[in-house]
Amino acid sequence: MHKANRAAVVGTAAAALLVSTFTVAASATPENAAQHTKPKSDVAAKTLGALGKRADLRIGTAVDMSALASDAPYRAKAAGEFSSVTPENVMKWEAVEPRRGTYDWAAADKLVDFAEENGQLVRGHTLVWHSQLPAWLNNGDFTADELRDILHRHITGQVTHFKGKIWQWDVVNEAFNDDGTMRNSIWLQKLGPGYIADAFRWAHQADPKAKLFINDYNIEGVNAKSTALHNLVAQLRKEHVPVHGVGIQGHLDVQYSAPHDIATNMKRFDDLGLETAITEADVRIPMPVDNTKLEAQAEAYDVLLRGCLLTEHCTDFTVWGFTDKYSWVPGVFKGEGAANILDENFEAKAAYNAMSADLALAAGRG
Ligand code: XIL
Repeated sequence: MHKANRAAVVGTAAAALLVSTFTVAASATPENAAQHTKPKSDVAAKTLGALGKRADLRIGTAVDMSALASDAPYRAKAAGEFSSVTPENVMKWEAVEPRRGTYDWAAADKLVDFAEENGQLVRGHTLVWHSQLPAWLNNGDFTADELRDILHRHITGQVTHFKGKIWQWDVVNEAFNDDGTMRNSIWLQKLGPGYIADAFRWAHQADPKAKLFINDYNIEGVNAKSTALHNLVAQLRKEHVPVHGVGIQGHLDVQYSAPHDIATNMKRFDDLGLETAITEADVRIPMPVDNTKLEAQAEAYDVLLRGCLLTEHCTDFTVWGFTDKYSWVPGVFKGEGAANILDENFEAKAAYNAMSADLALAAGRG
């Protein structure tokens, strides 16, 4: 479907669904309402990836390589349900260059092969970040010139290794603080804010066809951080820096209200001629789980996905893992979990059904 048609269809659907996933039953036709809470069997038979393609949208997942190797049902879902994949960890700097000058591409290559076997696109994640850096880099006490050279080599080496195989690169990840100031990372400290433009230029030189993204969290709605990011990318575009897209991570929590102004925010980037994507969606729940929390979770996924569907150049929606069996959340957010769209037994949760229904409507099936 042409993007403009998609926006029109979704626009109509969204008007009906504006209040929330779960109040829709009262306002929509019985048919739509039934779809939203309990998918019709033909919708249920369609994977998110297949429904997304009909709406001109890739539906992706982060992939945990150890689960992929050891868990057959995980592997089957990762292969069958999604039309793009992102390595959860194996393309990060600490994974690919654990010792200075010693590269290990094996795990990342495995994911790229998996994607190729299954007709999926790959989001490369990530080239410049403050976290998951190798110890030799964190502890190296390099001069600015040395560090600039190290970064240049890293970006050129990694993008060249995967040249032609990566659809979108998260070139720069999490460069801002929530108040809109720039994060005081090793990169900002030693190289100044120009490291961002340099990173995009170097990545573009190495693979001119890859779409280059800047990615961050807490930028779903209009706020100080998303506005600072908007100002930066507007400036970069003016300077002809090859930045092509903005990745909105989408790590949410049912304790906080869902970002209902996400489409307004995403339109600002659309208006600059940039692509957008939801790159790491998950919605964590303070344990224990109950049905109210699961419904709030479904609504949050729905708000994120509809933001994307309402934005003409939103190209993909990626979940940060698809099953509660494997998730970074319990390890990082104390007392929280169950953040994904399938439960630990790979059964669909309300969040999965909400996504499925949204995509079916956007694909013109509603
Ligand atoms: C997380 C992974 O999911 C964990 O397995 C790892 O231990 C830490 O990183 N923002 C990002 C991702 O951009 O790379 C992070 O992934 C989650 C937050």
